[in-house]
Amino acid sequence: MNKPWAMMLAGGILGMGVLTTGSAADQKPEDVVKYRQSVYTVIGWNFKPIGAMVKGEIPFDAAAVARHAQYVEMMSKATFEGFPKGTGPDVVKNTEAKPEIWTKPAEFKNKMDSFQQEAAKLAEVAKGSDEKAIKAQFGKTAETCKACHDEFRKD
Ligand code: HEC
Repeated sequence: MNKPWAMMLAGGILGMGVLTTGSAADQKPEDVVKYRQSVYTVIGWNFKPIGAMVKGEIPFDAAAVARHAQYVEMMSKATFEGFPKGTGPDVVKNTEAKPEIWTKPAEFKNKMDSFQQEAAKLAEVAKGSDEKAIKAQFGKTAETCKACHDEFRKD
């Protein structure tokens, strides 16, 4: 039996397994960072106009608020997989993620959970046209962004 060939075959099958089960952990660290920054860019892009409406900087548009809030909620669920081990500032230069994300994972997860909860509530109230409720829930959601950035993101 041709051993090296068998090993290559086994390696190939293993490799395929990795490809087909493909999780964020199998990606290049740089690509993972790009992924999470892109998700946060989408979050910021959609969160900002809600803030501008809530503050009265631009006219309130209930349909737009509902749409933006839905994107924020959806993306809030897509950020967690963007932080696998080995994608911190010790490995990737172009990241604002602090090492504490990986040394205090429970706290980080906690911040992530509150963000997801408040974003889901925001999407819920945004379906109605109660401006006051939307305003209050926008504030609560914004606090969860700040809470995480203060502790886990470089300025
Ligand atoms: C659980 C933690 C956490 C929460 C909650 C959070 N962020 Fe962030 N955010 C981060 C981290 C960490 C980075 C840095 C990512 C990197 O550079 O690798 C970041 C980066 C960003 C960026 C910059 C993206 C880029 O282009 O580099 C924006 C914009 C942003 N967040 C907006 C928000 C907004 C708006 C909210 C709330 C609606 C929010 N974030 C909630 C942790 C969080």
